[in-house]
Amino acid sequence: MEIKKIAVLGAGLMGNGIAHVCAQAGYEVKMRDIDQKFVDKGIATIKKNLERGLQKGRITQKEIDEILGRIEGILDLKEAVKDADLVIEAVPEIVSLKIDVWKEVDAAAPDHAILASNTSSISITQMAAATKRPGKFIGMHFFNPVPVMNLVEIIKGQATDEETAKIIVDVSKKLGKETVLVNEAPGFAVNRILVPTLLEAVFAIQEGVATVEDMDTSVRLGLNWPMGPLTLLDFVGLDTALHISDYFVDEFKDSKYRAPTLLRKMVRAGWLGRKSGMGFYDYSGDKPKPNRF
Ligand code: CAA
Repeated sequence: MEIKKIAVLGAGLMGNGIAHVCAQAGYEVKMRDIDQKFVDKGIATIKKNLERGLQKGRITQKEIDEILGRIEGILDLKEAVKDADLVIEAVPEIVSLKIDVWKEVDAAAPDHAILASNTSSISITQMAAATKRPGKFIGMHFFNPVPVMNLVEIIKGQATDEETAKIIVDVSKKLGKETVLVNEAPGFAVNRILVPTLLEAVFAIQEGVATVEDMDTSVRLGLNWPMGPLTLLDFVGLDTALHISDYFVDEFKDSKYRAPTLLRKMVRAGWLGRKSGMGFYDYSGDKPKPNRF
C-alpha cells in the first residue's frame, strides 16, 4: 500500500510540526483541530518555521508556497480522515479523549488506513483495542521541535502487524527521520530515560544542590546536552512531565518514578514552562531569567 494522503489530528506544538514535515516530504496533508483559531495558529507556525530556511538560502519562496499548498486546515474530523491513507493523532494526552477520537476516526477512515498515535506515554494497545483494526494501529512518536529532531520512535502494540510497522518505518524515512522500532512499555524507550532524569534534576533543585542555571550549565557542558534539564523541562512542558511521571507510577507500581513536590506545586500554580511564560525560568523579559527555589 502506498501512503499519499495523511490526516494530522491536532494543530498544536506537535501536530503542526508533524503536518510541516509530512507536507515537506510531498504528502497531501489535512491538519485538523477543534477550533479555527488553533488551525490558523498551527498554519502560521508552520509558515514561520519554514521561513527560517529562507534567509539561509536552504529553501525558496516557491518551495514554501508549494509545501503550504499541500496543507489544508480543517475542523470536521470525518472530512479530515475520510480519504486518508494514514491518520496521525496528536491531541492532548488524555486517555478518554484519545479513545473517543480513535473510535470516531475508525468509523470514518477508509478500511485500508493506518492509525498512528504520537502519544508520548499512553498505551498503544489500549487505544488500538478501541478500534476495529488493532493490526493497523501503531505509535509514531515525534520529538519537539519536529522539523529539527531526527528521530521517530515507532511503537508496536500487542496486535500491531508487521506490515503496518514496515509501512510506518518507510513513511518516517521519507520524512527524513531515523527510526527505532520498540515494543510497547510505559514511556517506550526515550521517555523511559528522559523523564526520570528530568525529575532527578528537580529533586536536586528542591534539595538545594544547585541553582537552576548551575544545574543547567552542569548538564549542558558536563554531558554535552544541547539544553540543560530545567530548560528542557520548560521546553517540554512541566504538565507533560508530571503527567508522564504519574502514569509511570500507576503503570509500574513503583515509587521510584514519583514526581518531586516542587514540580507538582509549579504545575498547580500554572507554571508550565515556556508555553505559560513561567517555569524554572521566567520568560516575560527579553531573555529567560532563572527563578530561585
Ligand atoms: N522549527 C524549525 N526549525 C527550528 C525550530 C523549529 N521549531 N527550532 C529551531 N530550529 C532550527 C533553527 O532554525 C536552526 O537551524 P540551522 O541550524 O539550520 O540554522 C537550528 O534548528 C538550531 O536552532 P537555534 O540555533 O535557534 O538554537 P539551538 O542551536 O539552541 O537549537 C534546539 C535549538 C534544536 C531546540 C536544541 O536546543 C535542542 O536540540 N534541544 C533539545 C530538544 C529536545 O531534547 N527535544 C526533545 C524533547 S522530548 C519530546 O519532545 C518528547 C516527549 O515525549 C516529551
